Amino acid sequence: MSADGRARRGPAHRILVVGGGGREHALCWAVRRERPDAELFCAPGNPGTAAIATNLPIAADDVDALAAAVERHDVELTLVGPEVPLALGLADRLRGAGRAVLGPSAAAARLEASKAFAKEVMTAAGVPTAASRTFGAAELDAALAYVSRHAEPLVVKASGLAAGKGAVVCRTRGEARDALQAMLGAGSLGAAGDEVVIEAFLEGEEVSLLALTDGESVELLPAAQDHKRLGEGDTGPNTGGMGAYAPVAIATAALLERARREVQAPTLAEMRRRGAPFRGVLYAGLMVAPDGTPSVVEFNCRLGDPETQVVLPLVEGGLVDCMEAVARGEAPTPLRVSDACGVTTVLAARGYPDRPEKGAPIDVPADLPPGVTVFHAGTALNGGGRLAASGGRVLTVTAVAPTFAEAQERSRAAAERIAFEGKVWRRDIGWREAARRQ
Ligand code: AMP
Ligand code: GLY
Repeated sequence: MSADGRARRGPAHRILVVGGGGREHALCWAVRRERPDAELFCAPGNPGTAAIATNLPIAADDVDALAAAVERHDVELTLVGPEVPLALGLADRLRGAGRAVLGPSAAAARLEASKAFAKEVMTAAGVPTAASRTFGAAELDAALAYVSRHAEPLVVKASGLAAGKGAVVCRTRGEARDALQAMLGAGSLGAAGDEVVIEAFLEGEEVSLLALTDGESVELLPAAQDHKRLGEGDTGPNTGGMGAYAPVAIATAALLERARREVQAPTLAEMRRRGAPFRGVLYAGLMVAPDGTPSVVEFNCRLGDPETQVVLPLVEGGLVDCMEAVARGEAPTPLRVSDACGVTTVLAARGYPDRPEKGAPIDVPADLPPGVTVFHAGTALNGGGRLAASGGRVLTVTAVAPTFAEAQERSRAAAERIAFEGKVWRRDIGWREAARRQ
C-alpha cells in the first residue's frame, strides 16, 4: 500500500455518482445492490438518490468542486453520468490525481461533444455511417448549396452539445434550409450550432448499444431501444427520451458481433491511434436498416438516459466490478446478464420538453408490485416536505419480468398509478417489440 493509503485494498468502498437524473438514481441503485456496504455519494443527486446515498450539493458540471469533493471524501471510484463534465475534463482531473473514474478524457469525449469530430473518426476508421458534410459558422451559403444538391430527407445537426435538441430531421430541402438559417444564420443553438453536420437520412430502427471499454476490449450491456419522440406512435418533437426497453429482438447475436467488428473495434483503434484512447462507456446509437445493416447515428461518451434505467436492472452481477476495472484502465470484466425483459416509462411534466411546469405534488403508491422500481429524475421536496415535480422528466418507472409483455404491462400499470397534475407520458413504450413478438 502506498503512503497516501490510496492503493487498492480490494473493491472500492467510497463511490461517487455524478449527476442528478434518473440515470444517476439507477446507477446508485445498482451500486447499492452489489455493494450494500459502500459509502455512496451522489452530486447533486435528487430525493430518490438521497434515500440510498449521501447527496452532495455540487452541480454536475462544477469540475473544481467535484474534484475537491473526491479528495475530501477520499472517493475511490467516480461514476460520471452526464456528458458535460466529461467534455469539461472531469475525468482528466480525477485521473491526474490518481483516482479511478468511469468516463473518457475530454479529448475522447469529443466523440459526443463534436459530431464533426465523430464523423471524421468514423470516416478514417471505415465505420458505417450516413454520408455527410460539415460546415462552419462562415459557410452558410455553401451549406445551403449542399442542400440544393442532395436528395431529401436530410438531417441537420448542430455539431456541439445541445442537450438532445441539436438534430433536426428535415423531410424537405426547405426545412433543411430553415434549420441551417436558424443554427448557422441566427445562432439559435449558440456555440453548439456554430458548426453543423448535414447528413443523409437513414431508414430503419434505432438501437442503443452501450459498451464498457478500457479503450480496447468491450463488454456490452443489453441492447436497448429509446423512444425519443414525445407522442405515442413516435410522433411530435424529439425529447431526451420518453421510455426504453431491453433487450431488443433485432439486436441479434449476429448484429452485436457485427457492431463489435465494424463499429466499436475500429472506432476504439482510431481513437488510440489519435492518442486519445476512449475509456468509459461508449454508447453507439445505431440505425439498423431493414436488411439488418447497422450504421452509426451518433456516439455518446456515457450511459444513456433512460436506457440506463432499464439496462442496469437486467444485470444480475458483476456490474460494479466491471465499471471499476474500466475506471482503473483495466479490461472490462464479464457481466452476468439476466434473461428477463425490462421496460421503463418516463413520466414528464406538463410543457415538456420546451417549458416544463414545476411544483406539482407527486403521489407514488406504496404498494407497487415486485419487479417495479421508480427512479427519480426531476423531483424535489417542496416547502412542506412533499415530493414534487421540479424538472422536465420527473420519474422513470422500470418493470422487469420474465416476458416482454409482462414487463410492458407492469411498467404501464405502475406509471398509470403514479399521480401528479399534468403528467405527460407514453403508454406505448416498446410498441415495435410488442408487434414483433405477437
Ligand atoms: P442525434 O442527436 O444525432 O442522436 O439525433 C437525434 C435523433 O434524430 C436520432 O436518435 C434519430 O432518431 C434522428 N436522426 C439523427 N440522424 C439521423 C439520420 N441520419 N437518419 C435518420 N434519423 C436520424
Ligand atoms: N436516451 C438518449 C441519450 O441518452 O442520449
